Amino acid sequence: MACAQTGSGKTAAFLLPILEMLMRGDVAASQFKELQEPEVVIVAPTRELINQIYLEARKFSFGTIIRPVVVYGGTSTGHQIRQVLQGCNVLCGTPGRLLDIISKGKVGLSKVQFLVLDEADRMLDMGFEPDMRKLVTAFDMPSKQNRQTLMFSATFPEEIQRMAADFMKTDYLFLAVGQVGGACGDVHQTILQVDQYSKRNKLIEILTNIGIERTMVFVDTKRKADFLAAFLCQENFPTTSIHGDREQREREQALGDFRSGKCPVLVATAVAARGLDIEHVQHVINFDLPSTIDEYVHRIGRTGRCGNVGKAISFFDSNTDLRIARTLVKVLSDAQQEVPTWLEEFAFAAYGTSYHNPLGKVFASVDSRKVSLILYFNKNLKEVIHVCSLIQSIQLLRLFCEC
Ligand SMILES: Nc1ncnc2c1ncn2[C@@H]1O[C@H](COP(=O)(O)OP(=O)(O)OP(=O)(O)O)[C@@H](O)[C@H]1O
Ligand SMILES: [Mg+2]
Repeated sequence: MACAQTGSGKTAAFLLPILEMLMRGDVAASQFKELQEPEVVIVAPTRELINQIYLEARKFSFGTIIRPVVVYGGTSTGHQIRQVLQGCNVLCGTPGRLLDIISKGKVGLSKVQFLVLDEADRMLDMGFEPDMRKLVTAFDMPSKQNRQTLMFSATFPEEIQRMAADFMKTDYLFLAVGQVGGACGDVHQTILQVDQYSKRNKLIEILTNIGIERTMVFVDTKRKADFLAAFLCQENFPTTSIHGDREQREREQALGDFRSGKCPVLVATAVAARGLDIEHVQHVINFDLPSTIDEYVHRIGRTGRCGNVGKAISFFDSNTDLRIARTLVKVLSDAQQEVPTWLEEFAFAAYGTSYHNPLGKVFASVDSRKVSLILYFNKNLKEVIHVCSLIQSIQLLRLFCEC
């Protein structure tokens, strides 16, 4: 289970060692067969993201006998099955299409050595968890002790970590680079207090100052994405949009136009929040703030990638965004960003307690197994202090002393 900030290179961090281990082992050259038995299965939550991972896998395996294949919804199943049957060592897929092709008997899982869940906390939340459980139990996937399961994300809420343990070997390794769930340090974050009626004017003002620099604008609904994109086009900002109700062809076209700079503004829903690696994205604007802090961290992580700097501006509407105020303050201060006084006041007023109290809704976490160890000992303060000092968690030590 590995956690590192957005844009830090997690894709290569799992692809390269896996490909290298396959090359060193006895991987069979891919060839046409009616039943393909890949050594690696990679899953990710969105079509665009899994395609990006596939393209990276294809790049890194170029000139080797290893053949990656990608399968995802919204495109012809027949074409994708034909691609799989040509030979498949690394099968990349979104959950629905992957299960569909496996159920059709075209793919056997008995030779899987590596199962990778990218954006693992999303893959194990309520939406995808049943599919993931089916993937590891309903077919001939080797048991968790007989395969290596790898999970990657910039965020790992504790409840998801606990669930993730079901998929991992009992003594799995938890690797965290930097702060788990923290925002990328290369993104300059600004929060503006803007009510819903002023948002459009503020956006126009900001986009006018930005000029032609690549900008992603996040909104909360598909309808609003269409509406805002049309509005910006009318105002002469070349804009496109991506959301779940657009045809796959339109989604790919939108990303292509944004990547090429033909449309330097992309209005997006959560579908584009995670994993997408688009060069030269200098700005992220949260026209609507998301409801969870993890989603915020992923969204602003579309800029400031791979050592580049980026800017994120978020519109905070006190009528709708109070529930994220407290964790937002924490993420901003952890990333040494300026925290507006009015936001601190909202955060405080919303809960009537200190927003630094980690007993509130979990916004990020450490390795959850260490936390449960402390809870086990929590009746005896001496032992608590001992265990806390072992894991050097001053914050938790303080918390338990308070309790
Ligand atoms: N060692 C490296 N040297 C230079 N560039 C790198 C290196 N490793 C990765 N990159 C580049 O960094 C960028 C970000 O990588 P990647 O998409 O894997 O990040 P990530 O950690 O998965 O981010 P996210 O959490 O948003 O999914 C990519 O363009 C990738 O090609
Ligand atoms: Mg990634």
